[in-house]
Amino acid sequence: MSTKVLQPVASLHGDVPLPGDKSISHRALILSAISDGACRVTGLSAAQDVQRTLTCLKRLGVKINNAKAGVIVHGVGMNGLQAPKKALDAGNSGTTIRLLAGVLAAQKFTSTITGDESLRNRPMRRIIEPLEAMGARVDSHDYKAPLTIHGAPLRPIDFASPIASAQVKSCIMLAGLFARGVTRVTEPYHSRDHTELLLQEMGANIRSSGAMAAVVGPTKLNASDINVPADISAAAFFLVAGALVPNSTLVLENVGVNLSRTGILDALTSMGANFQLNDQVEINHEARARITIRSSTLNATTLGGAMIPRIIDEIPILAVAATQAEGITTIKDAGELRVKESDRLSALAKNLTKMGAKVREKDDGLIITGPTPLKGAVVDSYDDHRIAMAFSIAALLADGETTIQNAECVDVSFPGFYDILEFIQRD
Ligand code: S3P
Repeated sequence: MSTKVLQPVASLHGDVPLPGDKSISHRALILSAISDGACRVTGLSAAQDVQRTLTCLKRLGVKINNAKAGVIVHGVGMNGLQAPKKALDAGNSGTTIRLLAGVLAAQKFTSTITGDESLRNRPMRRIIEPLEAMGARVDSHDYKAPLTIHGAPLRPIDFASPIASAQVKSCIMLAGLFARGVTRVTEPYHSRDHTELLLQEMGANIRSSGAMAAVVGPTKLNASDINVPADISAAAFFLVAGALVPNSTLVLENVGVNLSRTGILDALTSMGANFQLNDQVEINHEARARITIRSSTLNATTLGGAMIPRIIDEIPILAVAATQAEGITTIKDAGELRVKESDRLSALAKNLTKMGAKVREKDDGLIITGPTPLKGAVVDSYDDHRIAMAFSIAALLADGETTIQNAECVDVSFPGFYDILEFIQRD
């Protein structure tokens, strides 16, 4: 268990090196693994979560070699995975367990997948029920991991998901690749669509419109070279830092700006932040751009409804931004935050209160009144990488020293985060 002590800073300047997008990295590895040939994946995230997916795939018999600027995944085809010798370990990664479950449900073998204590407490009924409706059998205790997945020939389903969750949607779409017919998922709101875009890139028969996505199976996937853009969810911490720390200018290159992920940019625009997007290009159907942000004052905003899936991972850092914004910021319809790596609404309310912010916790959100000067405090990450990073940024603005307990969990999505934070500080 490590702690990190952070001091306030005068300004932030320079280029911010970012990890590859975590969501796209998982999908690049999983889809390459069941493709028909060798795929070179560049820009892959070095995050612990992504390493979990990579290790699970190796245990399923997929050869993955390090290569110049990335990895080569030797796809085994749709029917080439092998039964793992022991339980697969997804660590802290909800994306690993939920996406791989979709693939494992269609195999001729039984496998078990589990994770760390946080993951073993997260809800899995949301994938167990649709996978069982497709014909697989999933044993669990109280719908929690470990999951023992008895693979079976799958039938397609038309699934109305009660929650907007890309992990649920992707799980079912991956299972649908193996089922004969049209598998369709409809969500209350459109969630991130990286699975659909990569499946399209690899030649699957995919349709999507609004909050509906469908795939026709069975299919085979063409091997493809995949370049992963930088992670906008990692960028978000530095976008807010650049906006809030006075006299700052930060430049973030090659950031993924897929519209299902750019809620942070829309939220910052509505708050009056000063940033620009330049040199936008599209590779593998995924848009990316350079973002330059300069400090400015911020106004309060309201975040809810269809916006929530587009900022689901950015709410911790947006809550920090809200403490410095003029007026009352309302975050609602965000009950899903209670079942992330930690109960993020509770973690945010506790830590923000410790730092002197004015915050009220609701069942499905937070109400934050600003601007309030923050004071240094001892705060806990609750072993949640995004809580640790959000409060590291809060610490830069605080009066006095801030200690983050259990600070090392940032490696789950952003190895090197603290070094970069130090590197861009100016007196
Ligand atoms: C992810 C989807 C989101 C997000 C998670 C990554 C993905 O979860 O919070 O960090 O890669 O599909 P939900 O789709 O369950 O909300």
